[in-house]
Amino acid sequence: MRIMALLVPKVLPPRVILVLQLLLPMAALSKASLDVHYYDQACSRAEEIILETVENATRYDPKVSARLLRMFFHDCFIRGCDASLLLDSTPGNKAEKDGPPNISVRAFYVIDEAKAKLEAACAGTISCADIVAIAARDAVTTTGGPYWEVLKGRKDGRVSRASETVNLPAPTFNVTQLIQSFAERGLGLKDLVALSGAHTLGFSHCSSFEVRLSNFSSTHDTDPSMNPLFVEELRKKCPKPNRGRNAGQFLDGTSSAFDNDYYKKLIAGKGVFGSDQALFSDYRTRWLVESFAKDQGLFFREFAASMVKLGNVGAKEIGEVRKKCGIVN
Ligand SMILES: *[C@@H]1O[C@H](CO)[C@@H](O)[C@H](O)[C@H]1NC(C)=O
Ligand SMILES: *[C@@H]1O[C@H](CO)[C@@H](O)[C@H](O)[C@H]1NC(C)=O
Ligand SMILES: *[C@@H]1O[C@H](CO)[C@@H](O)[C@H](O)[C@H]1NC(C)=O
Ligand SMILES: *[C@@H]1O[C@H](CO)[C@@H](O)[C@H](O)[C@H]1NC(C)=O
Repeated sequence: MRIMALLVPKVLPPRVILVLQLLLPMAALSKASLDVHYYDQACSRAEEIILETVENATRYDPKVSARLLRMFFHDCFIRGCDASLLLDSTPGNKAEKDGPPNISVRAFYVIDEAKAKLEAACAGTISCADIVAIAARDAVTTTGGPYWEVLKGRKDGRVSRASETVNLPAPTFNVTQLIQSFAERGLGLKDLVALSGAHTLGFSHCSSFEVRLSNFSSTHDTDPSMNPLFVEELRKKCPKPNRGRNAGQFLDGTSSAFDNDYYKKLIAGKGVFGSDQALFSDYRTRWLVESFAKDQGLFFREFAASMVKLGNVGAKEIGEVRKKCGIVN
């Protein structure tokens, strides 16, 4: 009941409801053949192997969880969830992974490790796109977030272009731009706000938010949606000119635990990216931020549902299962 109430805004005009009714069967059809049990026969230990690899890697480097989660998001937003993000550049082609926003996606080795073990256990069976989807779920569950069954059966793509990474939502986006970027992938308002909660894990370098700290606009030196104390805190972390290479800020107060602190920080004016804080400033998304801040269980359920939806974006039924995730067969 509660979720339904949340999903349906109070003021939905009849025309929108009609459009929704027309679109829903299409969405159901395009989900195609992804299946929770896809590998049950061919590789029953697949998920166990991936989980072990993620847990082991996280023990050596706690940042791995945030990076795996971000990897899934980046992969699905460009060309759909087809592991195009994992392909290496080749002579004459600069791949997505070498595009400008690559700095945070440094957990490719974890996927490669899982892939090597999976090839040993059941060669040519588990696609790299499915490994990324499962590893993202494991990153969430092992840091205290929800568990969900991952639909599987994606095939791997053969094309990856750095130039297409401009189509990722930028940290400077306002809510109108965010809504549009998500809508282009069949994701709605609720998905936008729930998936932004992935910032409960993770860290940002100064370059992604320092436009908010000085000379912000012709009328404001700093971003007026920011808590002034938070402005001071971030300025101290991002000194100029003598800044360490790793200078920056964690995206919420509990960056190694998957929880709803991110939304509480937005309400306090302490969102790190402009695109985070905008979710609270804009009336279209504020009610969702407030609901998730109030009720972590609700956030967990909606996050899991939105991750399943994200995993369907552009999933390919036809294609190959790469032998190595960095190169096409
Ligand atoms: C565990 O992770 C470390 C660091 O990434 C790696 O060197 C090692 O091979 C991994 N061990 C297993 C069993 O996966
Ligand atoms: C990130 O992209 C830059 C070019 O934009 C490239 O020089 C660099 O090697 C890439 N880094 C990684 C870790 O892929
Ligand atoms: C959002 O940003 C776009 C592009 O910069 C701009 O045209 C639009 O007016 C902005 N919308 C809002 C509501 O601020
Ligand atoms: C502030 O921004 C304006 C307009 O973009 C620019 O002309 C000016 O040089 C900037 N000032 C500083 C101190 O960076």
